[in-house]
Amino acid sequence: MNFQQLKKIAAFYGRFTLSFTQVGYLWRKLFWPRVNLDFAGQHWLVTGGSGGLGREMVFAALRGGATVTAAARSAGKLRVLESDVKAAGLVGLDTECCDFTSTADTQRLIERLIAKGRRIDALMNNVGVLNDDLVVTAEGREASFTSNLLSHYQLTEALIAGGVLGRGAVVVNVTSGGGYNVPLSTAMLNVTDPARYNGTVAYGFHKRAQMVLNQHWRDSYGQRAIDFYVMHPGWSDTAGVQRSLPRFRKILRPILRDERSGADTAIWLAATRPDQPEHELVWFDRKVRTAHAYERTRVTKDTPASLVAALQAELAKGPV
Ligand SMILES: NC(=O)c1ccc[n+]([C@@H]2O[C@H](COP(=O)([O-])OP(=O)(O)OC[C@H]3O[C@@H](n4cnc5c(N)ncnc54)[C@H](OP(=O)(O)O)[C@@H]3O)[C@@H](O)[C@H]2O)c1
Repeated sequence: MNFQQLKKIAAFYGRFTLSFTQVGYLWRKLFWPRVNLDFAGQHWLVTGGSGGLGREMVFAALRGGATVTAAARSAGKLRVLESDVKAAGLVGLDTECCDFTSTADTQRLIERLIAKGRRIDALMNNVGVLNDDLVVTAEGREASFTSNLLSHYQLTEALIAGGVLGRGAVVVNVTSGGGYNVPLSTAMLNVTDPARYNGTVAYGFHKRAQMVLNQHWRDSYGQRAIDFYVMHPGWSDTAGVQRSLPRFRKILRPILRDERSGADTAIWLAATRPDQPEHELVWFDRKVRTAHAYERTRVTKDTPASLVAALQAELAKGPV
């Protein structure tokens, strides 16, 4: 690591550590009005719903009276979720096994959901991982690119086209403050060359692209009265962080957010559907924040249209 990189890292942590941890959450929470989390009559789809922030979203929706489909990879973890929901005296949970690193598996989930014909009122595009080591899927794609971004695009577009996600629905995209470090770059989304792969950098590019994709969806589907939000959760002590960022976790563990604090803004957005005057933005702790913490990330040859073209081209390839 050279001096310039060290300087960037120090600036990032210096600027965001208090804000992104439980310290920032507890401080801001003092000033928030009480919000009624009433989701009665709604049907939610939560990707990555068996653990971490997704699991919190599932519980919040069920507590608010919604029915929920939780989609995640491990059948065992989904069974644990079912029994925990039952033990909490809650009802209305359905589970779906799906590996979002596989476009074929995501397609099968889409077909099951459309065949069921149940309207989805809230789609929480939450699934996401940071893979330290390169994983190339059987379909020939970098695994975290597929789960963090491509699957969100595939799922959302197909559910809209299939008529189960439509007028009056809300979509919440869960990005990360890691997206602040990089500009939009379609060339950096699907890096399958071990010599070029860096998990943290790849994750940053996926998370930046989610912010831009949300902007595209707002422009494309505003007329259809579907609300699109993109939020980041700060830093929460989830299994994902424990697995991917052990050193970061070791240092910050006493002040990391709990899962409820990390999921709070996503749940609040679904409950309150606030106006979004700004074009480029990200929500964090119930407030619109800048999409660019650093001027350098505004510089890119890519556009929302080139991002969407790249995702469409990737899906059109099928298994590669
Ligand atoms: N925690 C944080 O501090 C933090 C910060 C910034 C952004 N985020 C974002 O918040 C979201 C949730 O993060 P988290 O920390 O809650 O993650 P997590 O603890 O790793 O939980 C991830 C959930 O997603 C599921 N999942 C992972 N890969 C999957 C796949 N390929 N197919 C289907 N399900 C999959 C997991 O189930 P299985 O075990 O069955 O795979 C689990 O239910 C992610 O998008 C992440 O990037 C988190």
